[in-house]
Amino acid sequence: MINNDRLKRDIERYSSLLRSSFNAKLSNGDSSYNNAIGFKLQADKLILWLNEPSETILNADFKATIEQIITTVLFPAWTVLHSTSGLNLIARKNEPIESARALVFPLHYGLYKRIVVNSHEDTNLVENNQGLVGIQLMEGKNYFPSRTPHVGIMASTRSGKSTFIAYFLKNCKSYSELAVKRGAYDDHANPLIIIDPKLDANLSKFAKRENAEYIYPNFSANTNSFIETTNSTLKEVIDLMHSRADYLKNNPNVKFKDVFLAIDEALAITSGMSSKSKSAYMAQLDQLLLMSAALQIHVLVSSQSFMINQAISSFGRLQLGLRILLTKKVTKENAQYLFSDLDDKTINSLVLDQDNYGSLGIGIATEGAEVYPFKAPYINF
Ligand SMILES: Nc1ncnc2c1ncn2[C@@H]1O[C@H](COP(=O)(O)OP(=O)(O)OP(=O)(O)O)[C@@H](O)[C@H]1O
Ligand SMILES: [Mg+2]
Repeated sequence: MINNDRLKRDIERYSSLLRSSFNAKLSNGDSSYNNAIGFKLQADKLILWLNEPSETILNADFKATIEQIITTVLFPAWTVLHSTSGLNLIARKNEPIESARALVFPLHYGLYKRIVVNSHEDTNLVENNQGLVGIQLMEGKNYFPSRTPHVGIMASTRSGKSTFIAYFLKNCKSYSELAVKRGAYDDHANPLIIIDPKLDANLSKFAKRENAEYIYPNFSANTNSFIETTNSTLKEVIDLMHSRADYLKNNPNVKFKDVFLAIDEALAITSGMSSKSKSAYMAQLDQLLLMSAALQIHVLVSSQSFMINQAISSFGRLQLGLRILLTKKVTKENAQYLFSDLDDKTINSLVLDQDNYGSLGIGIATEGAEVYPFKAPYINF
């Protein structure tokens, strides 16, 4: 809950700080910005306009410059959500034509705080005021599977992918159980299917405890058997999807029990595959990503890279609505796959704020047009 008195005070204090910061950082020589720029700071956004005619051109460069300034000046009272959707112009009604258009910068009041959970037994389901159930990712940030069905997580080795996946899937299972309690049709599908080519110790323990369908390689057998099992698992999920689609024909309003298919370390799966198995794998994954969401089947893919046609097809990558990059430093190289809309200037202005848990599981995330700093829940093992 937002404390209104504090918010009001912060708006006053930070508005005056912003005004002087713009003056100091944007002015060249004698010309003052005092009258050239107008703005209004609110809990969830900053609206900023020029008083025309102005020397400044209202373009992407200007927008990026302002974003860079406000990212640090508003810290730690506000988090700037970097928008990747180009120039967001809004009309300012009832204003003189000199200042009738404004840029909008989406903000989050406060910092997103990391949540700490005691073990992978803890769940953090939340319900918003429209009755939509979500999974808490951070304090102030929830994920709604019905809104954004598929997820992509990229991080280099030892960055916390498998740990986060276990937290996430535990919540997904509870989410699925709650959906059934609230009337979703239970066709007895296993809510968790995990494909884990690395046989991660924690993930395998987790899978066992949660009775997940767990697909892993038998390192003493040949690799083909794992590849075949992976492909036949995808086929199984596609069959489930088809049978749900059939059922839906006669029951158009039905909601099914949610099923979550998680593929950890996707690059390790495809790297050992023959090109024939790989194209079968990619085609099946594409089909799932395209068709499954309306049938309450979700896909989560984690990988060290999302280079096209290695872990996923270009089409498949587009279907990943929630995208998370775990990294200590965002660069053009690591952002290019899941955050291709981020330009250099925005990358330079991203703030990854640290907390008492250091750089463990930190990075950025997006769900559409806004990129925000991310901190994976800390698990007290
Ligand atoms: N959110 C977290 N909370 C607590 N400990 C964590 C967290 N994330 C990572 N760790 C610690 O870091 C170790 C490495 O994390 P994890 O295995 O999840 O990374 P990964 O990206 O899956 O790495 P790999 O490339 O080995 O698969 C974990 O064993 C755990 O000790
Ligand atoms: Mg791992």
